[in-house]
Amino acid sequence: MKILILGGTGMLGPWVVKALKDKHQILLTDIKEPPKQYQGDFLKLSVDDLDGVIKAAEGMDCIVNLAVLRHDRKLAFDVSTKGNYSIMEAAKQNNIKRVINTGPHFQLVGPSYEEWDHNLNPDMPAQPGTRLYAISKYLGQEICKKYSDQYGIKVLTLLYYNMRHHLDLTTPDFEPAEMSTDMTPFTTSWIDCGEAIRCAVEVAEDKLASNLETFFITPNLPHKKFNSEKTYNILGWKPRYSLERLWNKEIIKSNNHLEDSY
Ligand SMILES: NC(=O)c1ccc[n+]([C@@H]2O[C@H](COP(=O)([O-])OP(=O)(O)OC[C@H]3O[C@@H](n4cnc5c(N)ncnc54)[C@H](O)[C@@H]3O)[C@@H](O)[C@H]2O)c1
Repeated sequence: MKILILGGTGMLGPWVVKALKDKHQILLTDIKEPPKQYQGDFLKLSVDDLDGVIKAAEGMDCIVNLAVLRHDRKLAFDVSTKGNYSIMEAAKQNNIKRVINTGPHFQLVGPSYEEWDHNLNPDMPAQPGTRLYAISKYLGQEICKKYSDQYGIKVLTLLYYNMRHHLDLTTPDFEPAEMSTDMTPFTTSWIDCGEAIRCAVEVAEDKLASNLETFFITPNLPHKKFNSEKTYNILGWKPRYSLERLWNKEIIKSNNHLEDSY
């Protein structure tokens, strides 16, 4: 497949490239240049440049959107909301039938869902609250919804929680000597997060129940605060890295901490 990646030189971008590059042809774009090690095609492009995005999308089979700007009030809307307009218009004009959108979990399950400790699922009504990052991404998703309804474009939205390098996490067969810092239990490795994009790019169309499907990308934790069954069953994504060793470390560390305080 020919894939246009927008906002691809940030933190997640290199892991998406790693997951896709052997099987797909990539055009990486961002307002920021990629590092020297990147050997593939690159175009400097802002997601709010409508004509530029339409042109870059010519001949593509799929668009992957990783662009985000979290802090500036105007720019956040230019990137995270208007950017989705450029992407969906480019998909429409170039007859591209698949878009992979990304964002944080709280653009869907925001502050009003915070107290829920079980079964938050990706098909709940969105309640992003008023935080700039969440609301600007949520509005971008609403634009995707309109286009997917009207023009039959499949939009798969992957919602992430927190990402870390896999050397900070563990697998059953590999344990790093020392874990650096503690982290939230829903943390997912960059490598697994990149793989999730590959799964979304490649999933067969007949597995998708509608034109707009949303997936949580979180590890399978026993108490299931986030219900990621849909991700495992439909996308066929399974995280390789988990946090099990970290949970043990937390217990030991907090006991020591208590002793130290007396
Ligand atoms: N990093 C995390 O832990 C995390 C957690 C939850 C969700 N996410 C989501 O994952 C996706 C990727 O995030 P990331 O961690 O790589 O973020 P990042 O901030 O590292 O990268 C975002 C990229 O967007 C680019 N960008 C900014 N303005 C742009 C513009 N006008 N046009 C084109 N590109 C522009 C930036 O240059 C940057 O390279 C985002 O949708 C984000 O919401 C990330």
